[in-house]
Amino acid sequence: MTNRTFTMIKPDATSKGYTGAILDRMIKDGFSIISMKWTKLSKEQAGKFYEVHKERPFYGELVDFMSSGPIVAAILEKENAVASFRELIGATDPAKAAEGTIRKDFASSMGENAVHGSDSDENAAIESNFFFSEIERHSGI
Ligand code: RTP
Ligand code: MG
Repeated sequence: MTNRTFTMIKPDATSKGYTGAILDRMIKDGFSIISMKWTKLSKEQAGKFYEVHKERPFYGELVDFMSSGPIVAAILEKENAVASFRELIGATDPAKAAEGTIRKDFASSMGENAVHGSDSDENAAIESNFFFSEIERHSGI
């Protein structure tokens, strides 16, 4: 267990103007922002980021969607960050997400589900390295 995780605010949420409200939820839940950038992924970059899902039937759709508009990428810090953040965002399918979660309130479907959250410490490190160099992360709150 480490105290850092990685998140993206996905293109559905940035295009609907939810970025500020979603960041506010993260901060109010006790997460500190270590690194953050607003950018847009090419298809190739989105394909590489979600390479673990390459064999899944929704991979093509996922890559098209994640490269369809701007995203916000961030490294967040809090005790037990990965599990705590997965709890804050809720289930992958917003119809199954608990009340008060980010996906319950901002996501529209299983595919367009507003936010990404790392699923393990190992993947949090890999995903953070995908977007941020050492100089782009500060070392403490
Ligand atoms: P994420 O990685 O984005 O935080 O989402 P997750 O862990 O909750 O879900 P995961 O199984 O890792 O799937 C990654 C993303 O792929 C899209 N997806 N679509 N149509 C489908 O059946 C389906 N299943 C997954 C979602 O955008 C999901 O967040
Ligand atoms: Mg995942």
